[in-house]
Amino acid sequence: MPTEAWLNAALLFAVFAGHCELMAAWCNRFHGLKVRHRVTAKVRAVHDLLVFGAIPGLLFGFGLFGYRLLRGGEWSAVPWGWKAYFALCGLGVISLLVCTARNLFRPLPTGVRREGRRIDVTAELGFKPIGTGRRRHQAAAPWNGQFTLEAVELELTLPDLPPGWDGATIGHVSDSHFQGEVGLPFFERAFTELAAWRCDLYVFTGDLLDKPARIDWIAPTFGQLTATNPAFGCRFILGNHDWHYDVAPLRAAMTAAGWGDVSGRVETLLRGGDPLALAGDESPWLNGPPDWSQAPPDAFRLLLAHTPDLYPRAKREGVNLMLAGHNHGGQITLPLIGPVYAPSQHGVRHAGGTYREGALLMHVSRGLSGRQPLRYGAVPEVTRITLRRPDDRANGA
Ligand SMILES: [Fe+2]
Repeated sequence: MPTEAWLNAALLFAVFAGHCELMAAWCNRFHGLKVRHRVTAKVRAVHDLLVFGAIPGLLFGFGLFGYRLLRGGEWSAVPWGWKAYFALCGLGVISLLVCTARNLFRPLPTGVRREGRRIDVTAELGFKPIGTGRRRHQAAAPWNGQFTLEAVELELTLPDLPPGWDGATIGHVSDSHFQGEVGLPFFERAFTELAAWRCDLYVFTGDLLDKPARIDWIAPTFGQLTATNPAFGCRFILGNHDWHYDVAPLRAAMTAAGWGDVSGRVETLLRGGDPLALAGDESPWLNGPPDWSQAPPDAFRLLLAHTPDLYPRAKREGVNLMLAGHNHGGQITLPLIGPVYAPSQHGVRHAGGTYREGALLMHVSRGLSGRQPLRYGAVPEVTRITLRRPDDRANGA
C-alpha cells in the first residue's frame, strides 16, 4: 500500500476514534438526565448503530469503495459536510487524549490517603455466586470482575472538621442494584466486610435494586449493619434506578432494617459536643436538595448524593464532604484510556474515586453492582472513611 494510503488509513482510524468519543460523550450526558429506561434504551440503540455502523461506513464508503481513499482516491472528492464532521471528530480525538492523560496521571487529592484490598469472593465462597435472571450470562462472562470486591480504606484530612469528629469512621456503600444475576451471597459478603469495620456511621447512596421482588434481600444485607455509635446509626438515600419503582415500600423496608431516610433532609449529629450536619439529595429523580439553613451555622456539612453531578450545588452550599455513587467506575475501562461510559453531565470526569472540587472533597463509590452485571477494570467497592483534622495528623494522633 502506498504511503498516502497508509496516511489515509491512519486518518480514517482517527476519525473513527473521535466519532466513538463523541457518541460516548453524547450518550453519557443523556443518561445523566431524568429519563425512563425505555427512552435510554432507544438512545443506546441509536448510539450502538452509529458506533458499529461507522466501521463499515468508513471502511467501505470512504476507504475501499465510494471515495476510495485507501485506493488512490482524493480528499477533495469528499463533500464539505463530511469534512466538517470529520473535523469535529478531531475534537473527539483531543477529548480522548485528555481523558487518557487524566486517567494515567490523576493524583490523589491533597489530604487523602487510600489503601485497597481485593477480596476474591468466588474463591472465598468456593463457587461463583451467579443467580437467576436474563443477564446471568453476562455475569458469567470470562474475566468479569463483578465478583471481586475491593475493600477501600480512605483517610481524609479535612481542614474544617471539628475536633469532636477527629477519628470518626463512616462505612460507605452504594449501588447494590439487587436484581438476581449477582447472587445474594456476593452481597452478604460485601456487607460482612462493612460490618467488620464497626464504623460510627454507615451510609448508602442509592440504586438499591432493579427488581422489586429483591426487596427481601435488604434484611440479610443492610440489616446486618449496626453503627458503633447508636446515636448516628445508618442513613440512606435512593437513586435513579429506584425511581422507576414505587419507592414507598423500598423506604419502608430500609427503615425496617434499621436505616434512616435522610433524603431531602438535614440531621445534626453530635460527637464530642461538635455538630455535623448530615443531609441527602436524590435530585434530579426523587427528593430534592436539603435546606441547609436547618443546620447549625458552624456544623461540618456531609452530603449524601446519588449522582456526583450535584457537586456544583454542594460547593455553593458550603458542603465539606460529599459521598456519591451512580457512575460505577465506568463499569468497563479500557487500557490506558480508562473509563469511557458514565451516566453523567460531566462524562467520565467523576467515574469513581476521590476528587477535590475547590473546598469540597468528594468520594464517588464504584458501588456493588449494576443493571448490567459486568465489571472490567472497575471492580465493586465498599469503603471505610476515617475523618481526620490536619492538626491531629501533624501531631501523629
Ligand atoms: Fe447505579
